[in-house]
Amino acid sequence: MTSVPASQIVLVGMMGAGKSTVAKLLGLALERRVVDLDREIEKASGHSIGELFELEGEASFRAREIDGLRAVLASNEQVVIAAGGGLVTSEAARTILSGTLCIWLKATPATLISRVGQSTNRPLLRSDPVGTIERLVSERAQWYEDAATMVIDVDGLNSKQVTAMILDRLEYPC
Ligand code: S3P
Repeated sequence: MTSVPASQIVLVGMMGAGKSTVAKLLGLALERRVVDLDREIEKASGHSIGELFELEGEASFRAREIDGLRAVLASNEQVVIAAGGGLVTSEAARTILSGTLCIWLKATPATLISRVGQSTNRPLLRSDPVGTIERLVSERAQWYEDAATMVIDVDGLNSKQVTAMILDRLEYPC
């Protein structure tokens, strides 16, 4: 069983898997501060994620993600972090994640498409969202799997149910 107190928790998974909402609920339940890496990047840069992709390109955004993750973890604060879906694409990020309690919110393409297939604020989904989600799921699945301490299948579950399942797996009373 996984130990809660010792670990910094990072939620990973595809766009639409529910990381941000579940992080908030988990933070409430565990009485931990919640850090949403995308929102932190937006605050620090003064730009939306979409603008950053346009202004600086994806590689620069990925560097910001890793820097943000490093900075939060370096504080040693017992936080719950919602990562962006593409964090695991970086080897450096995957190495960092191996020192955390990393929870993969795993969803099928059908679930993700139903949730974010129409999303307009995610730059990677602006053209051919269905094909892109299918491709990214297949490209990233192994990285999520390798990074994960815990895997939660979220298909058909709402965020409260997912959170309850995580707390149960952590042996934390709901
Ligand atoms: C991305 C996911 C987004 C955001 C950016 C890129 C990805 O975060 O970081 O649009 O590559 O999967 P969410 O997973 O929170 O939507």
